[in-house]
Amino acid sequence: MKHTEAFDEFANHRGESGNQPQTTRFGTSQNIMIPVKLDKENNVTHMFVVNYEGFPENGLENFFDITGIRFREGLAGMTVYQGPLEYSLLKGYIGTLLKIARSIDQCEQHTRFHSTRTGLWALKIAQSLGLDSQEVESISLAGKIHDIGKVFIPKSILTKPASLKAEEWDLVKQHPILGSVLMKPSQELKSIIPYVKAHHENFDGSGYPAGLAGEEIPLGARILTVADAFTTITEGRVYKKAATFRNAITELVRCSGKQFDPLIVSTIEKLVISGDVRDWMGRW
Ligand SMILES: [Fe+2]
Ligand SMILES: [Fe+2]
Repeated sequence: MKHTEAFDEFANHRGESGNQPQTTRFGTSQNIMIPVKLDKENNVTHMFVVNYEGFPENGLENFFDITGIRFREGLAGMTVYQGPLEYSLLKGYIGTLLKIARSIDQCEQHTRFHSTRTGLWALKIAQSLGLDSQEVESISLAGKIHDIGKVFIPKSILTKPASLKAEEWDLVKQHPILGSVLMKPSQELKSIIPYVKAHHENFDGSGYPAGLAGEEIPLGARILTVADAFTTITEGRVYKKAATFRNAITELVRCSGKQFDPLIVSTIEKLVISGDVRDWMGRW
């Protein structure tokens, strides 16, 4: 087993987050599970769980349910699972991530189409901005998997009807980085990792994880932020009623230039006003 590959990846992850691992009651915040390197000769890759101890149990269960992978060596120790995965799993890796996204959405009634809707709004915004078709497709895909890092977060936190405790919030804020780690094994996803990683950055620099501002945030990510927020506001949550499209736009306009890029806000505003939205949103 090539443990070093997993640890290299782990070290990278720490570097990119810009922080040392933080210890919370859930354990170390940067515990991650990583599919590492395709062994081309044998058509296999390896799945590692690095530094497992204290990992949020439900989060991992989500992932295992989807991939059908089971723990082989119990829960203790640095490497929980080491072994070959089916080649078809890696070949269909994007499909696997889409399934993960759908599974996270199913945690809660309001969010059951969250990733699909976010992907759709992102696609429409990108088209309206006149981006080329390949970029439109990339941004749409990023929208569909933007929250996959939440697979590591217990359902009890994702669906909590009350406000989160500080340590729970710290964990939730890891999801853009964790999502980007899950995307790394796929060469095809390389170009959209920055979009997923930055989908909670705010235009005025007040977001996370890096506190990027303005054009430091990739355009794809600025689109995702608006698509994600519009979707969330109109879906509602256990603690908040769903807003109408009109009220959601009012909210986006109120936060334009602060949380959101004004150009993207005016683009989605035009889309909603144009009225054809109902035709394609009706599908969902
Ligand atoms: Fe998110
Ligand atoms: Fe989201």
